[in-house]
Amino acid sequence: MPTTTPVLKTTLPGPRAKAIIDRDTASVSPSYTRSYPLVIERGYGAMVEDVDGNVFLDCAAGIAVNSTGHSHPDVVKAITDQAGRFLHMSGTDFYYEPQVRLAEEIGAVVPIDGGVRSFFGNSGTEAIEASVKLARYSTRRHNIIAFLGGFHGRTLGALALTASKAIQRRGFGPMMAGVYHAPYADCYRCPVGAKPESCAAECLDFLEHQLFVHLVSPDEVAAVVVEPIQGEGGYVVAPAQFLERLRGLTKENGILLVDDEVQSGMGRTGKMFAIEFTGVRPDIVTIAKGIASGLPLGVAAARADIMAWPPGAHASTFGGNPVSCAAALATLKLLKDTLMANAADVGGRLMAGLTALADKHPLIGDVRGRGLMVGVELVRDRKTKERATTERERVVTAAFSRGLLLLGAGKNAIRFSPPLVLTREQADTAVRIFDEALTEVEKGR
Ligand SMILES: Cc1ncc(COP(=O)(O)O)c(C=O)c1O
Repeated sequence: MPTTTPVLKTTLPGPRAKAIIDRDTASVSPSYTRSYPLVIERGYGAMVEDVDGNVFLDCAAGIAVNSTGHSHPDVVKAITDQAGRFLHMSGTDFYYEPQVRLAEEIGAVVPIDGGVRSFFGNSGTEAIEASVKLARYSTRRHNIIAFLGGFHGRTLGALALTASKAIQRRGFGPMMAGVYHAPYADCYRCPVGAKPESCAAECLDFLEHQLFVHLVSPDEVAAVVVEPIQGEGGYVVAPAQFLERLRGLTKENGILLVDDEVQSGMGRTGKMFAIEFTGVRPDIVTIAKGIASGLPLGVAAARADIMAWPPGAHASTFGGNPVSCAAALATLKLLKDTLMANAADVGGRLMAGLTALADKHPLIGDVRGRGLMVGVELVRDRKTKERATTERERVVTAAFSRGLLLLGAGKNAIRFSPPLVLTREQADTAVRIFDEALTEVEKGR
C-alpha cells in the first residue's frame, strides 16, 4: 500500500536527483525558477516520489495543475483509450467528437450568460492571447486594462498584461501597446487605505476617475482582464464588491470583462470558477492548468455572440489535442462527482489549521483563500507588514526538507495548491509540517 504521508530516505537532494540536476544545469534553460531540488520519478494521488525513493506530500500540484491528483486512474484510462485511437488530427482543420463534447461541457459549466463557444489552445497564455484578440476583433477597440500584481502569461501579448514581477518583463520590451494597469483589491494591503468592513471597492476609483479621465477613453477599451483571485501575485482574494463594481463599469462602457480563471478555476476553490463566489457574469473566461489534470490545454470560452470571428481569424495546430480533450472530459467528471466538494471541505480544514498557526507564529501576517487555493503571507512585523521575503524562501525550503512540497507566490506569500484529492488527514499533515518549518525559520532569525 503506497504511503499517504512523507517518507524521507536520503539527504536532499539524493545522489540520483543530484546527478540529474547537474545535467539539467548544463542543458536546460536557466530561466526556470526551481525553489528546491525535487526530481520526480512518479506520483499518485497527492503524493510524489523522487528518483531516490523519497516520498513527499504535494501541496504544489505542478503549479495548481494536477487537479485530480497524480495519474488518476480514470484520467489515465481516458488518455490511453484516446491515444490508442488517434493522437492528433488538428481540430482547426478537421472535426473530432471529444473536442465538440468538451466545448459543450465547458459551455454548461462556465458562468457566462446565454450560448457559449470555446477556442482551444495549449496553455494559459494562449487562452489569454485568444481572449485579447477576440476582444479587439469583436469590439473594434484596441486598449486593454489589467491589474497590478496580475499574471496572465509570458507570450508577448499576455506579457503586456502581466504585472506580477519586473523580472518577467525585464529585457523584453517594448510591450504590446494599448495596455493600462490599475491597482488590484489587495485587502491586506489596501492600495487606498480602505477598511474591509466599509469598503466599496474604492481601489477602482483610479480606473474610473484617473485612467478613464486622463489616459484612455473608455469607448476605446476592448476589455478588462482580471483574476478573481490573483494567483502568482500572492493568492490575493478580491472581494465581491470589487468584481461587481468592475462588471458595472465595463457594462456601462461597452467593455468586455475577461475572467482569468487559469489558476483559480476548475474546482480548486470549491466552486468550478472563483468568480461564482460573486454574482458577476463575465463575457469571456480563460481556463488552463487544472482542466486536463496535467495535459496541455488552454481554453477561451466566450459568449457565442462575441465569438463570431470568421474562419482563419485564429487557430492553433495543437490546440484542443484529442488526448488533452479526453483527459479534460475525465477531469470534469471527477470534479463534478466528488472533487469540487472535497476541495471545499478539505480546503476549509486546511484554512482553519493554517489560521490557527497565526496564534503562535509572528511570521504569519495573513491567511486567505478559498477551497484548496490558500495563501499565507509572511511578514517581519505585523504592524508595518514588512515583507518577509528571505524568510519565505527559507520556510519553503524547510518544508521541503521535511517532505512537504510548497511554492511561493508574490514576493512573500506561500501558496497551498494541492491536488483536489487531498484528504483531511493530509491537510493536517501539511499544517503540522508547515508549523515545524515556521518554527525552524523563526528560531534562526
Ligand atoms: C491566472 C493565470 N493566467 C495565465 C497564466 C499563464 O498560464 P501558462 O503558464 O499555462 O501559459 C497563469 C500561469 O500561472 C496564471 O496563473
